[in-house]
Amino acid sequence: MSSGLADTKLFSPLEIGRYTLKHRNESLLRASFGSSLLTGRITHPLNIGGSTPLGPSKNKVQEGMVFLTPDGPQPHIEAEEMAEEDIKEAIEDFAHAFKCAFDGVEIRSAHGFLPNQSLCDEINFRKEKYGGSIEHRTRFMLEVVGAVDIVGDYGYAIGEFDKRGLAYIHLVELSSDLFGTDEAKVKQPKEIAKERDIEEEDVLTLKPFRAIIKATPLIAAGSYTNTNAAPAVESGATDAVAFGRYFISNPDPPERLAKGYPLAEYSRNTFYTGGLEGFTDYPTCQEAKA
Ligand SMILES: Cc1cc2nc3c(=O)[nH]c(=O)nc-3n(C[C@H](O)[C@H](O)[C@H](O)COP(=O)(O)O)c2cc1C
Repeated sequence: MSSGLADTKLFSPLEIGRYTLKHRNESLLRASFGSSLLTGRITHPLNIGGSTPLGPSKNKVQEGMVFLTPDGPQPHIEAEEMAEEDIKEAIEDFAHAFKCAFDGVEIRSAHGFLPNQSLCDEINFRKEKYGGSIEHRTRFMLEVVGAVDIVGDYGYAIGEFDKRGLAYIHLVELSSDLFGTDEAKVKQPKEIAKERDIEEEDVLTLKPFRAIIKATPLIAAGSYTNTNAAPAVESGATDAVAFGRYFISNPDPPERLAKGYPLAEYSRNTFYTGGLEGFTDYPTCQEAKA
C-alpha cells in the first residue's frame, strides 16, 4: 500500500473568507453546511406542496424526463414564468438560509438549478432586466450573491463573482459523466475533440475558468480520485477538491486518501433510489478490513 496523501497540499486547511475548511473534517462540514437548492422549473408539484413549478420562463424540460416524488416517478409539468415578485422571494430564500443556523450557504449555480436556468439563454426568454443580454441573465445570480452577503457566458459570471469577495467558487468538470459507462467516459472527450477540431485535453476543462478566478479559492469536483486529486491541488489547477460519487460509496474518503487506502467503487443503480441501500450501508475502510 502507498504511503498515502496526508502530507500533500490536498489536506492543508483552506481559508475561505471567514471560514477555514478543514479537509479532514469534511463530513462534519458537509452536514452543517447548507446547500441552497432552488430547483426552479426542475421539480414537480408533489415536491413543492402542490404549487406549479416556476422558472425564468414558461417552458418544458426534455421530453420524457421524469421527477422523483413521494408518490414515485412522475412526468414533467410545464413550468410557469416567475413574476418579479417570485424572483425577489427566491433571492430572499437564499439570504434566509444564510441567516439560519447553517455555517454557510453554497449557491448552487450548476446542474440546472435556478441560477443556472436564469443564465441559460435556451431557458430564460425574459424580456426585462432578468433576461436577454448576458448582463441581464447574470443579474439573478449577482443579486443572490449580494443578498447572501458573504463578503463562453459562465466566464463573465465567474469573473464578476471573483470581484465580490465570495468564500469560494465551486466548479464541476464538465467531463465528469455521472451515468455513462466507463467506456463512454473515455470516448466522450475524444469525440467532442474530433467534432470541434480541437485537442482532446482542451475539450472539457476548468482551465479557462481558473485563469479568470484571481482572488477567490476554487474548489473543483468531477471525476477526482485518489490518484488525480493531490496532483490537481499541487499543480495549482484548483485550491481544493470535492468528491461526489466516491463520497457516497465511501463514508471516510479523507481517511482513505490520507492513508493511501483504495476508494470503494460506487453502485450507480442505487444513486437515485429510496431506502438505505447504496446510501448508508457502504462500510468504512476499518469495517471493510475487519
Ligand atoms: C447520486 C448523486 C446525486 C447528486 N445530487 C446533486 C444535487 O442534488 N445537486 C448538485 O448540484 N449536484 C449533485 N450531484 C453532483 C455532485 O455534487 C458532483 O458535482 C458530481 O458527482 C461530480 O463529482 P464526482 O465525479 O466526484 O462524482 C449528485 C451526484 C450524484 C452521483
